[in-house]
Amino acid sequence: MRVADRIDVAPARAVIGTLRVPGDKSISHRYALLSALADGRTAIANYAPGADCASTLACLAALGAIVSRTPPERDGDPAVVTIEGRGLRGLTAPAGPLDCGNSGSTMRMISGVLAAHPFLSTLIGDASLSRRPMRRIIGPLTQMGATIQAGPGDRPPVTIRGGSLTGIHFAPETPSAQVKSAVLLAGLQASGETQVVEPACTRDHTERALAAFGATVDVDGRTVSLRGGQRLSGQTLRVPGDISSAAFLAVAAAALPGSDLTITDVGLNPTRAALVQVLRRAGAEVESTVESHWSGEPVGRLHVRHAVLRDVVIAPDEVPELIDELPVLATLGTFGGSVTVSGAGELRVKESDRIAELVAGLRAMGADADERPDGFQIRRGPKLTGGAVHAHGDHRLAMAFAIAALGASGPTQIDGADAVAVSYPSFFDDLDRLARRDPGAGGRQA
Ligand code: S3P
Repeated sequence: MRVADRIDVAPARAVIGTLRVPGDKSISHRYALLSALADGRTAIANYAPGADCASTLACLAALGAIVSRTPPERDGDPAVVTIEGRGLRGLTAPAGPLDCGNSGSTMRMISGVLAAHPFLSTLIGDASLSRRPMRRIIGPLTQMGATIQAGPGDRPPVTIRGGSLTGIHFAPETPSAQVKSAVLLAGLQASGETQVVEPACTRDHTERALAAFGATVDVDGRTVSLRGGQRLSGQTLRVPGDISSAAFLAVAAAALPGSDLTITDVGLNPTRAALVQVLRRAGAEVESTVESHWSGEPVGRLHVRHAVLRDVVIAPDEVPELIDELPVLATLGTFGGSVTVSGAGELRVKESDRIAELVAGLRAMGADADERPDGFQIRRGPKLTGGAVHAHGDHRLAMAFAIAALGASGPTQIDGADAVAVSYPSFFDDLDRLARRDPGAGGRQA
């Protein structure tokens, strides 16, 4: 599915209907990485269709895992991904650099896998990934026994020579699920025990996925412990819908009068679902129902209806569980109540500087918005006018601007809209299907 580079988004009155979002990006990466380290074959249904998770598969294939796609079980599903595992420390030296594309998750988490493999690998990425900090994984993985070099400022490319690792007790300063996961993936292949003590709770998909593949992981509050050398066995898995993708249309439904949106088969892992509380605090009517568990991950439906919006303050301790939803939650401020976020300095080192570019884009559309060193404030003001914005190669900014555009008086032109292919290639199709527009407003025009 190709998405146009420049898309015009017309205003909408409401979003109404039922939506299934693509498979969760975070969970897909983890299932793929653990499959490659497992003994036997793993089949992953509803694997995330975006470019990021394709980068992980391409890297694993270059490292000797046999990766294939078979036709979907249900119409509309992406293909089922099958991976023949190589067993712990069983991957083989790649013929060239491993291209992680735009995906920080791929680069950071696969580093934990490679840290235990006794060959040289070089990890590269696109212009955005090449600006992102890697010190956070280099520190602990070096302490465990790997030899790692990076470019100036500890930015990619990252060169890793793996070795015999020893488990560590690691207490990162910044909460990061990617860093926790890199250390746990290395710890699985190390001697002795590895323990990570997080400064704040982050998404726990790696812990749940390790258990799904048969490993024993102890979780005690914010401390995760894992004994090295545990063998994993191949599994049959299904990935829940991505709540971070669902967040875009959920925010639109909360913001536009008369909206009524049901999102089915979506992941409702409590370490990812803080969005629900924030939408309720903003005044929206949100029902969240867990219907089943898929390999240890809660899955269910979200039902979101509009109500008059209130001001929302997002405090620093809420940020780790909302980090990917902050750009779209900011847009609530352009529809009604203000949105104030602090303690979110990490947004500056995402796919773009998400504080600077978000505020610049919303202002270009007419918002009353301020940038702060570690956050932003979007104040309730007059209706947006629309205008021209740039996504700066950042999928979540492209989608956040598209949601803000629904509440504007005129159209919004989004340059770099094709960035949505990283996590949600069908985003603009879903938006057009669910948006209720006045006759003559037009839909998107590619
Ligand atoms: C992710 C963790 C978060 C998040 C990213 C995905 C993961 O990054 O922003 O989109 O899958 O573990 P950090 O670990 O840098 O906080």
